[in-house]
Amino acid sequence: MQPGQPSRTALGAAAHRAVHQVLDGGRIFADPLAVRILGADIDVAVRDAEDHPSTRKLRLFIAVRTRFAEDALTAAVARGVRQLVVLGAGLDTYAYRTNLGENLRVFEVDHPATQAWKRQRLAEAAISVPSALSFAPVDFERETLADGLAAAGFDPAQQTFFTWLGVVPYLTDQAVFSTLGFIAGLPGGGHVVFDYGNPPDSGPAQDEYAAVREALANGVASLGEAFKIHFETDELHAKLTALGFREVEDLGPALIRERYFANRGGSTPDRGGHIVRATTI
Ligand SMILES: C[S@@+](CC[C@H](N)C(=O)[O-])C[C@H]1O[C@@H](n2cnc3c(N)ncnc32)[C@H](O)[C@@H]1O
Repeated sequence: MQPGQPSRTALGAAAHRAVHQVLDGGRIFADPLAVRILGADIDVAVRDAEDHPSTRKLRLFIAVRTRFAEDALTAAVARGVRQLVVLGAGLDTYAYRTNLGENLRVFEVDHPATQAWKRQRLAEAAISVPSALSFAPVDFERETLADGLAAAGFDPAQQTFFTWLGVVPYLTDQAVFSTLGFIAGLPGGGHVVFDYGNPPDSGPAQDEYAAVREALANGVASLGEAFKIHFETDELHAKLTALGFREVEDLGPALIRERYFANRGGSTPDRGGHIVRATTI
């Protein structure tokens, strides 16, 4: 991120969710606030998506990861989770449209510059901040999540669900594993959903998605938010297990296709963007 500036990829991800409502009818992920929080930028975003059809793959990946995370959250709430932490929240709208009210305490954690910008956007869009939501400004590279959450009133003894979407690739190894270690060590138990990418240089030299992955890496780098970290799937799972996560569900490109795009046929190389759900209980 540029010093003192809000995340530009947060605006990009929010634009993809909003365009998904307009051009795809919210087929994978329906979000009634996605267009509203984007405000006047929606027309430009839709035009841009129509002019660049190759961006559809990333748009659908973002829709899938958000849908997967919210489905897993709904299941966890049904099993008793009463605390949610949205890590690197960007313009995520879950807290503003859930009907769980005081039954789910929500903490939005984000870089201070992005969070201040989001709060301004919410005010401009007349989206009210529910009383069950607390903001926790934290720079993952400089402060501990534990300190940031404690200051916001987080209860570590409560079983907690964390969403961490579109953030891990931008962080260092140290920031990623200290955060995962914090979640794994929570006395009340922790669940986390996050996404990651396999290293670009270790798969088949040129599958049909290589150009898309390269364009994405170049695009985020040009916004000053280059990808810093990738994982080999087996190595990541071993680290998650070593940290104390008992169950790890990993949706790679092939499983994503099977679960969300089964009607399309064809096949997908199983390297690229993954979505993980890991839980300690
Ligand atoms: C691609 S956006 C994703 C936002 C949101 N989760 C979504 O899916 O729309 C990346 C997010 O990571 C946050 N981020 C990046 N580096 C960070 C850091 N060092 N500390 C805290 N947040 C960070 C940005 O502020 C931004 O909100």
